[in-house]
Amino acid sequence: MNRFYITTPIYYVNAEPHIGHAYTTIVADVLNRFHKIMGSKTFFLTGTDEHGDKIAQAARSSGISPKAYADRISGLFRQTWPKLGIQSDKFIRTTDSEHVNVVQYVLQKVYDAGEIYFSTYKGFYCVGCERFYTEREIVDGKCPDHDKPLIEREEANYFFRMSKYQDWLIEHLESNPDCIRPERYRNEVLAFLREPLEDLCISRPAERLDWGIPLPFDANYVTYVWFDALLNYVSALGYPGGELFTEFWPVAQHTIAKDILKPHGIYWPAMLKAAGIPMYRHLNVHGYWKTEEGKMSKSHGTVVRPLDMAAVYGAEAFRYFLLREMVFGLDAGFSREALVQRINADLANDLGNLFSRSLAMTERYFEGKIPPFATEPEAMDSELQAKVENALRQFREQMPALGFHKALMAIWECIGAANKYIDTAAPWNLAKDADRHARLKTVIRTLLEVNRVVAVLISPFMPETSAKMLERLGVEKRVEDLRLAKDGAWGSLVGGTGVVKGESLFPRVESSDKKQERLPKPAQEAKRADTTPKAEQSVAALIDIDLFRQVDLRIGRILTAENVPKSEKLVKLLVDIGERRQIVAGIAKTHPPRTLVGKQVVIVANLKPAKLMGIESHGMVLAVRDANDLKLIIPEAETAPGGKIS
Ligand code: MSP
Repeated sequence: MNRFYITTPIYYVNAEPHIGHAYTTIVADVLNRFHKIMGSKTFFLTGTDEHGDKIAQAARSSGISPKAYADRISGLFRQTWPKLGIQSDKFIRTTDSEHVNVVQYVLQKVYDAGEIYFSTYKGFYCVGCERFYTEREIVDGKCPDHDKPLIEREEANYFFRMSKYQDWLIEHLESNPDCIRPERYRNEVLAFLREPLEDLCISRPAERLDWGIPLPFDANYVTYVWFDALLNYVSALGYPGGELFTEFWPVAQHTIAKDILKPHGIYWPAMLKAAGIPMYRHLNVHGYWKTEEGKMSKSHGTVVRPLDMAAVYGAEAFRYFLLREMVFGLDAGFSREALVQRINADLANDLGNLFSRSLAMTERYFEGKIPPFATEPEAMDSELQAKVENALRQFREQMPALGFHKALMAIWECIGAANKYIDTAAPWNLAKDADRHARLKTVIRTLLEVNRVVAVLISPFMPETSAKMLERLGVEKRVEDLRLAKDGAWGSLVGGTGVVKGESLFPRVESSDKKQERLPKPAQEAKRADTTPKAEQSVAALIDIDLFRQVDLRIGRILTAENVPKSEKLVKLLVDIGERRQIVAGIAKTHPPRTLVGKQVVIVANLKPAKLMGIESHGMVLAVRDANDLKLIIPEAETAPGGKIS
């Protein structure tokens, strides 16, 4: 029997669950449910990360002990997941004694092997990240993640000989190209490994921080939070001796967002190697959810709370939205408006209507009993069945490869085709004609079969909806017991079984912000995005040369380019102008992102930063409008990035 082991990051207990945490955990749940219906034996782990500076500080400001604080927030995470339809097999806490024992066991093992040494280190430290930054990583003397000044700190500490594993790791990632996926993140890790790797400081003096696991070989120190946290993935399985470990570790897959790629892509493999534990199979890395205001932040009130969403729109719709909207690996934008639109279009209209129409007709024409296939299939039946087969194939291929949105698109293609099939087959006309009653049976049976397969295929995404559909279709099986090989097979409904139409699966919802919703989408976008002045008709007023000199024009090279979600016009660029700049430009229509990477352009470098669709932009790309086309201004020949234009 195949095995499948999936983990989420263990979340810090200094913040309540938000949409980002929910997304990763739902993805893990969807994958886990998928592998179950493929017949695998699965294990799904999530939990909370409770030690370290950050938690100690948060507890202090709440005026309670770190443990009491961790208990409270960890409890919130634990209670949230089932309310979002997430069924994990274990919820681990890094304060669990079993975990603490494993961390100390591994530390001792690695120490005894001579892979940990004691040394003095002086460097720049970020409290938020709980780590020292290297010269290369520091931006304007600040932590690039927190944008806060770093503190200079000198400390005697224990170090893990991480540098030793650099060559092995490069070789591993090169010979296992799908180990870190999607590929862009594997490339990111490999790019990082092109520079010499430094050893990792794995301790903190207990006098400064006592909220951590004591080093087994020196009680004056506690374990660095990442060395502690990463080990949860094996301690939860009862490493070293546990049966679960033997059974599931060889197929381990971690799911994370890009923010913690380095600890998972570099520290963790090196730790595993040093401890003599085989490397994990996959690291699945997704992008970031952003709200219209940009990054989510508690202080700005822009945090999207998953339980609020579930309360208003339903957990099932929320799950569907997250998996349908985000391309795994890329960033995505969250807005209630987009959520409402998907609920109304995809769920209420497409799926809900197909289901209720199919069942209503079964009730009307066959007293609610599933009819047999009573005639040979016609072309339209075979076409519809081909769509179902395609959805099944896409589902099998895309799901394990993290192409959730593609699997859903194929399922919805099938739903769309079935709705059209109803209109074309026009069962209401067949019903009027006694000679065509046999054909009516085939049509309705065909529709019911499509509904059943759809119910099976959506089960990882919307388990409750799937269960409801199956029950009303007279299928006696719990969602947990579904197996694609059998339950996905065409024609497996039992003729004569009773069906029940019931209430609509997804009632339509009104947007809470009607004004926003009424505005057509492109208009909203234009309102936010169109900050560039219209082409001037005549030459503008003369200016003094000094005024012109105030404009800092520079040569830039585009390093990366990606579409801004939900915008046709905007593209997000990372541009080298001697330093790296993020610039959002309204050029996507004429210049798709893939054509931009590597191009040299002219940048206005000293424009005041602005936000376009919630994304920070630090500069402007120069272009000229020529008839309906837009042309970039580029230097005559290759020019060093940062070159000042005079
Ligand atoms: N405690 C560490 C992880 C240790 S794992 C051994 C940690 N915790 S965290 O609470 O900050 O969670 C980070 C993770 O939360 C991300 O990797 C991602 O899974 C999820 N997300 C948090 N914000 C997110 C978004 N805005 N968008 C998508 N997911 C993000 O790091």
